[in-house]
Amino acid sequence: MPIKFEEKRKIFHLYTSNFSYYMHVNKYNYLIHLYHGNYLSDISKERVSERYMERYAFVDNGKEVQDEDYYFSTFASKFECAPYGKHDKRNPFAVINDKSNIDITNFLYVEHKMYPGVDPHFTMPYPRFTAKECQTLEIILKDEYRDIYLHMYYTISEKYNILVRHSKVVNKTNEPIYVHKFSAMELDFDNDDMDIVAYHGSWGSERQKEVIPLNHSLTEISDNHGERGFYYNQNILLKSKDATLDMGEVYGFGLMYSGDFSYQFKVDEINQTRMIVSYNPENFMFTLNKDEELYSFAVLCVHSNEGINKVTQIFHDVARDKIIRETWAKKERPILINSWEAMYMNFDTDRLIKFIDKAKEAKIDLVVIDDGWFGHRDDDKSSLGDWFINTKKVDLQKIADYTHSSGLKFGLWFEPEMISPDSELYKVHPEYALYADNVKNPTLQRHQLVLDSINPEAREHVLNQIFKVVDALKPDYIKWDFNRYLSEAYSKYLTTEHKKETYHRFVLASYSMFNAFITRYPNILVESCAAGGGRFDFGMLYYTPQIWCSDETDIAIRAKINYSTNTFYPLSTQGTHVSMRKNGSIRDKACLAFFGTYGYEMDITKSSDEDIKTIQFMNDLFKKYHSVVTKGDYYAIYDPYTTNYVSWNVVSKNKKKCLVYFMIFNKEQTHARFIKLKGLDKNKYYFNSLTNDIYKGDFYMNVGLNISAEFGSYDSMLFVLEEVNSIPAKIYRKTKQVDGGKREKLLW
Ligand code: DGJ
Repeated sequence: MPIKFEEKRKIFHLYTSNFSYYMHVNKYNYLIHLYHGNYLSDISKERVSERYMERYAFVDNGKEVQDEDYYFSTFASKFECAPYGKHDKRNPFAVINDKSNIDITNFLYVEHKMYPGVDPHFTMPYPRFTAKECQTLEIILKDEYRDIYLHMYYTISEKYNILVRHSKVVNKTNEPIYVHKFSAMELDFDNDDMDIVAYHGSWGSERQKEVIPLNHSLTEISDNHGERGFYYNQNILLKSKDATLDMGEVYGFGLMYSGDFSYQFKVDEINQTRMIVSYNPENFMFTLNKDEELYSFAVLCVHSNEGINKVTQIFHDVARDKIIRETWAKKERPILINSWEAMYMNFDTDRLIKFIDKAKEAKIDLVVIDDGWFGHRDDDKSSLGDWFINTKKVDLQKIADYTHSSGLKFGLWFEPEMISPDSELYKVHPEYALYADNVKNPTLQRHQLVLDSINPEAREHVLNQIFKVVDALKPDYIKWDFNRYLSEAYSKYLTTEHKKETYHRFVLASYSMFNAFITRYPNILVESCAAGGGRFDFGMLYYTPQIWCSDETDIAIRAKINYSTNTFYPLSTQGTHVSMRKNGSIRDKACLAFFGTYGYEMDITKSSDEDIKTIQFMNDLFKKYHSVVTKGDYYAIYDPYTTNYVSWNVVSKNKKKCLVYFMIFNKEQTHARFIKLKGLDKNKYYFNSLTNDIYKGDFYMNVGLNISAEFGSYDSMLFVLEEVNSIPAKIYRKTKQVDGGKREKLLW
């Protein structure tokens, strides 16, 4: 069992073969954090009593105590949930007050439970571990001053090498309590010599990697837009300064949440670091009446001493096996073509029929009709909420039937969580729009408002309309969009005391809409989207097995977006298309899009015969090797944020096949360059499609492949390695004829 409790020293040890997590209940009943790092068979006595430069006095039961043999300080010890309003002035775990307006909390250990499986009462996204795959430790603490209970959950899976944390606060007082800040986890570190790697972005430049050194001021990685992690993605790395892609200590954190969050880091006066992961306290205040409770979201905590690539592989395995719904987890995805960049909203039945015919000729599997088919929508100024076919514009039933009878799959776009002021729905139900009662002119973004999906009536009304269309057209795929963020967001449906809960409740309402849809249509492939890749997080992946990565498909920009996205999310979850945008040929863009769900975003009815041939060729290649992309192990090779290149390889789990991607940003004259591959079997022989040679795995990994050449900007390579079982002697010692065939030169 990966959790042990040593009664005598009151030490908890959570572990896998790779890491250990130690905690201790001290003699004053504080839950003390001891260690989180490489596997450690035991923790020393000194460590348990904590060692500091000097003994700090602290206050216990009203008396100043300086414990001679017990080094403990309420302001410098490492906690699992630090007290607030007392002696500890670091960033707090929870801020909770009541009508007295006094918010001091001091959560002390009461008891703990251990059980196989996950917390059975948790209803938000969580890895779908079976009882055999994990064990949970639940520690219950009680506030020293009030009957408020804190439950801390630690679910550990040895199989997946991961710790998952969340927490819960329960009000057992007779009065309401007001939760202003609430965290999923706290993690206190001994030192400060680490960097945060965070991913900020905006439309068309999602998840841009940024390295931020820890420092003594409060550093916050957060988002406050309401269900759009554009500004900062929900995942971060915390790495020792010398850690690289393949070496060194790296912690990875992934939030299974699509709403506003906050990571706070602060180095204290003796250079220890506190990390707090909470709901963003900015748009947040929960009122809990007697016996009511509030859960945090879940955090995936990964540790590696083998660099960033190892962290990435753990996230990918957990996401593919345990986060994405089983129906889609490892299923290969259809190659799609989307009408958006091909024709935006300017389509009619005839134009779409030609588009479908050409898609079939190009060996595409799925045709998606994007925005513009409903209400009276010809531009983005109207009709969200009116989910009925605009029959004056297009015969969508005919289009769906024609697509199916052509042997292709059919897909359709919706934006369920929005409402246009110019819509039938808004005319009848203006109260379905999400903005505060006292706001006369709510802010429009892309001419639209957000649907108050917290209101079950609004939610059901929209879903029922969508169900009608889906039942009639029988799409195989749905693109679920979300094109603006929240502002002036106070649900009219919530009573005054709960108004400040809108941002979090909105996330729960979205989850319930996704859930209703996938429960009714478990076999429809749903791709979520938010103005490009604005809602790319593990919470969404729990419901939708793929997410549109970005509207930017110009490879100069997109390569960096994909590289960052790859760090956390499996390639099989990333919507990647080939378009006609500026930089990169169709072939170059296809090489990049290959490492995703793959598809097209262009009017192929206007493509040249040569382009159609390239598309057909790439589609065949994709179908042949897609399973490597979907199920293989990913290794980053060149980081585009620090080099002039971007490169990675993906190796099938049985190490028989490998796909390699390489792209250069700025033109380079010929100079020596070897690309060293990763993760191959060092003893296997592989044929490579780049030089058409056979080398041993250790050769590819240590010497690498010689790719020295004159490169133009955005020149891209995609090549395949496949295991060859028997090596003909001739090839085993590879030679080349030189001097006009007079001499044979040994190549390796
Ligand atoms: C934003 C998406 O990212 C696009 O691909 C497209 O679906 C538009 N919305 C449609 O409005």
